[in-house]
Amino acid sequence: MSFDLVFFGGTGDLTWRKLMPALFQAFRHGKLPAGGRILAVARDERSDDAYRDFIRERFAEVDSAKRPSDAEFAEFAQLLHYRRMDLSQPEHYAGLKQWVDARGADTVVLYLATSPYLFPVICEQLGAAGLNGPNVRVVLEKPLGHDLASALEINRVVRSVFAESQALRIDHYLGKPAVQNLMALRFGNALFEPLWRRESIANIQITIAESLGVGTRGDYYDKTGALRDMVQNHALQLLTMIAMEPPSTSDADAIRDEKLKVLKSLRPFTPETVARDVVRGQYRAGAVDGKAVPGYLEEVKVPPDSRCETFVALRTEVQNWRWAGVPFYLRTGKRLGARNAQIVVTFREVPHPIFPGTRCANKLVINLQPEDGLELHLLAAKGSGNNDLLSPVSLDLDFDKAFPSERVGAYEKLLLDAIAGRLNLFVRSDEQEQAWRWVMPVLEAWAADPTPPRPYAAGGWGPAAASALVARDGCTWAEEQ
Ligand code: BG6
Repeated sequence: MSFDLVFFGGTGDLTWRKLMPALFQAFRHGKLPAGGRILAVARDERSDDAYRDFIRERFAEVDSAKRPSDAEFAEFAQLLHYRRMDLSQPEHYAGLKQWVDARGADTVVLYLATSPYLFPVICEQLGAAGLNGPNVRVVLEKPLGHDLASALEINRVVRSVFAESQALRIDHYLGKPAVQNLMALRFGNALFEPLWRRESIANIQITIAESLGVGTRGDYYDKTGALRDMVQNHALQLLTMIAMEPPSTSDADAIRDEKLKVLKSLRPFTPETVARDVVRGQYRAGAVDGKAVPGYLEEVKVPPDSRCETFVALRTEVQNWRWAGVPFYLRTGKRLGARNAQIVVTFREVPHPIFPGTRCANKLVINLQPEDGLELHLLAAKGSGNNDLLSPVSLDLDFDKAFPSERVGAYEKLLLDAIAGRLNLFVRSDEQEQAWRWVMPVLEAWAADPTPPRPYAAGGWGPAAASALVARDGCTWAEEQ
């Protein structure tokens, strides 16, 4: 199958930091279909060779195991092309159309790795140039809008040019192997589904913790904050995968219909519940991995009086028969104690304990990163002669060991899916709009509240109020146990 993959924003951070290395891995693993061309478009004038040099130099920043040798790069570079485009000029889109038509690839994937405010103008121009035929797919990177109104506007324009099945909204968390394994765990095995409900599950925690700060992205981040950057998309997508009903098939729409139902079942926030159930924080100076790091307000391109949140913890519920009354806790933040993304499903304790002194709830821990794997925490007898004394043990599954050499990174997976037209792991417009609808009351309540976010020391686990949020229900966060 021949394909053309076009990156708008071809010299931008996302393209060289994430997308090109992912494509190179797909190429190295022999997964990239033969007969492909990769075209980067950006504002400045440069030749194909100059662009190849630009990417080769950037690859020096990729971690060494993933870096191409000279010979590998030379081969990969043959796929790379470059084209100057002014995104407001119709004739530049006409030129792109000619470039694409001259070869007539089976599939054309247009990846918008630009700022989202350009999405409407790019889509309109693509439509006007006729670059929206049935063999064309457009990939939209997050953030998709800044609030519900801007997301609706982007989607309105996208829909006026592309059919829903042609518009692929990317959330790279869905490409992570552990997330696909969550589907496998729930719907490929009979074991857990009977327990996957309020009768057996006490609570669910979703944590996406980063040890990094905002780095050089202060200007973007300060306008965005953790709620928009991580909760509206990544954390909510994980929640939908955990809470959804079994879809009737593995078709993209069957899955997305179920995810949408979860989003629609989330308990809506009011100003009172925002004050009670949502904690926002902002990091102060501290130490991460033994190294002193500055506070958020000292970061480059961050205003010294910023009220932008770098941490959010919240409690919600999925209001349906399966989950009524089960707390779902979401938490994400920058400059926390470790880079760690995990989902912890805590089961209810045994109804009648017969072993004295040991009470412990079983837990299923789904680790997304730094390593992906599963842990099932149980109580067991040590066999030390006293059968009444139980000790906690864990059944551990390390996917890297279980499937050595077959692991594919998130962007690699999603790029291959975009080329192949597999839509399961892309977000449909109604899901994305519903996620915005749910976070809007929080954004509005914060905008109306002059209280600054709660400070927390870099290298810790967020403000104390985040612990108090779960303690109210008699729970603790995973690292406090
Ligand atoms: C991005 C956010 O979507 O996800 C970043 O914009 C964040 O702020 C990143 O750092 C985290 O992704 P990952 O895969 O490194 O956990």
